[in-house]
Amino acid sequence: MRVLVIHGPNLNLLGEREPEIYGRSTLAELNEHIAAAARELGVSVECIQHNGEGEIIDAIHQAWTSYDGIVINPGAYSHYSYAIADAISSVKIPVVEAHLSNIAGREAHRRVSVTAASCIGSVSGFGPESYVLALRALAKKAEK
Ligand code: DQA
Repeated sequence: MRVLVIHGPNLNLLGEREPEIYGRSTLAELNEHIAAAARELGVSVECIQHNGEGEIIDAIHQAWTSYDGIVINPGAYSHYSYAIADAISSVKIPVVEAHLSNIAGREAHRRVSVTAASCIGSVSGFGPESYVLALRALAKKAEK
């Protein structure tokens, strides 16, 4: 199984950006954590990061033919990007949303994810483990 992990805007600043909310791990460390979990699950994983909405949409479209599933953290786009939500709905591979922080317990504008509505499920609030849980859910789904 091949899974594409898409990190959205500002996640390139992980480790330096609001560490009290997002933790002290860098994006490279997070990707290594995801890669280690993928090895255990026997899943092949590639991690990419884009700040731009269009780049994320292009990556979702391209993944349709090259991957069996997507784990995506759309960052702040989660809360208002109907374009990313439509891209997720357009591709016929399962997509799981992951968030480091518990968006349900944060400011009002973060409590709604319009992109999660297009995904098969979402995981939020477990730091790097959110991605691992999302990956595990995709791997389980592929087994069936
Ligand atoms: C985030 C939550 C979003 O509200 C925020 O804009 C982010 C990170 C998370 O992983 O917790 O950039 O997606």
